[in-house]
Amino acid sequence: ALKIVTIGGGSSYTPELIEGYIKRKDQLPIKEIVLVDIEAGKEKLEIVGAMARRQIEAAGLDWTVELTLDRKTALKDADFVTTQFRVGLLDARIKDERIPLSHGVLGQETNGAGGMLKAFRTIPIILDIIKDMKEVCPDAWLVNFTNPAGMVTEAAIKHGGWKKTVGLCNVPIGHCSTASQKLGIPEDELFFKFAGINHFHWHRVWDKTGKERTAELIDMIYGPHKEGENTDFKNIHDAEFHYEQIKDLGMLPCGYHRYYYIEDEMLKHSIEEFENGETRAQVVKATETRLFELYKDPALNYKPEELSQRGGTHYSDAACEIIASIQNDKRTDMVVSTENNGTIDDLPYDSIVEVSGSVTAHGVEPYNWGTFTPAARGIIQNMKAMEETVIRAAIEGNYGAALQAFTINPLVPGGTLAKTILDEMLYAHKDHLPQF
Ligand code: NAD
Ligand code: G6P
Ligand code: MN
Repeated sequence: ALKIVTIGGGSSYTPELIEGYIKRKDQLPIKEIVLVDIEAGKEKLEIVGAMARRQIEAAGLDWTVELTLDRKTALKDADFVTTQFRVGLLDARIKDERIPLSHGVLGQETNGAGGMLKAFRTIPIILDIIKDMKEVCPDAWLVNFTNPAGMVTEAAIKHGGWKKTVGLCNVPIGHCSTASQKLGIPEDELFFKFAGINHFHWHRVWDKTGKERTAELIDMIYGPHKEGENTDFKNIHDAEFHYEQIKDLGMLPCGYHRYYYIEDEMLKHSIEEFENGETRAQVVKATETRLFELYKDPALNYKPEELSQRGGTHYSDAACEIIASIQNDKRTDMVVSTENNGTIDDLPYDSIVEVSGSVTAHGVEPYNWGTFTPAARGIIQNMKAMEETVIRAAIEGNYGAALQAFTINPLVPGGTLAKTILDEMLYAHKDHLPQF
């Protein structure tokens, strides 16, 4: 029987997770689900925990749901540990996004200045969690959702030494369903190959006759005769890529590439949001409040539609499927953050990359990608070097490394402005950055 522990259990995403377990009840012999949070999230934990219990009861299952603030006790004998915590909660994300924007620079909570600060706050905690796990559940799998998911996963594997870690994101799932819709071919009759790093990957698509459909999809999604809406995520403004550039790239970009390929458009839009007091974090905070009002209803025993307003909708398809696939050696094709080990020629062996692979009982066996064309190689090497520098800064509490990371991040202009933004952010978040 399985014990699954979720760190950051008070997240409004938890009903999504529970729904995913329920869908896979025949594959998951769950006995116990433990939701762990901290004092600041206690109220959320209690509301969402009661909601989870109602979902499980409505499904006629006898799984227990425990709610606790005592992480180490919770982790004892866990089989799977999933993480979805946010150090400083959404108020910290508001600072992550608004401080850079107040200087005319993209905040972006995963890739930009915001993402780097989120990493500084989060990496020490993930390493602490791993310390606990080494003592009380040495065989557990760690399924990391906590953003910036690529960097947090790299810290867990490379620095925490927890090899049984997989990082996940819902973005690839969205891109697979878009391709399937556009081509009018069921997803399981297509073969997808993704490669890159979290929120910075590209993909190619083949059909079952062996024909590559990537170029056609580029035309259908980004070309001058494209039809219909681009079904990206709620959290990313859907500014249009430049078709000629994507065509030249020869791979499908991910939604987050907009921040790089059309940075000026995204910045313009973000500045407008900033001026209206409507940065994504602020919008999400209002959504969260509405969601918790719904969750309080003792009659609600299913995931409400409103949750699809969050960018992470359908993330349980990734989280629960990976658990089911490891548990049953299903060898599901998935996109995960895992050790490179030569999958992408252009990145170090011990880097964490986000790639397609087969999920087995012993972990992920990635599909080889090979090399990128120079246009993709240059920027991904820059991004990975930035990530490595962020992780080093987070672990060492190293100000020079932090400034280095800000300086080389393509979304932050270098020089004195980088330093001004960094200093302001370190100060604003100082309660959550004991290492600096
Ligand atoms: P949130 O602000 O609701 O935080 C989730 C919970 O974490 C809160 O209840 C909070 O109290 C708790 N928490 C904070 N610090 C903690 C700690 N040290 N230990 C245990 N719990 C702690 O966040 P959210 O908006 O629901 O997002 C949750 C996380 O999941 C974020 O990191 C977000 O970036 C990530 N996320 C990732 C994906 C993905 O694609 N990988 C998708 C959705 C969300
Ligand atoms: C996408 C990304 C997640 C991110 C989320 C933000 O789903 O994959 O990594 O956390 O969007 O959504 P939000 O509703 O919090 O802005
Ligand atoms: Mn993601």
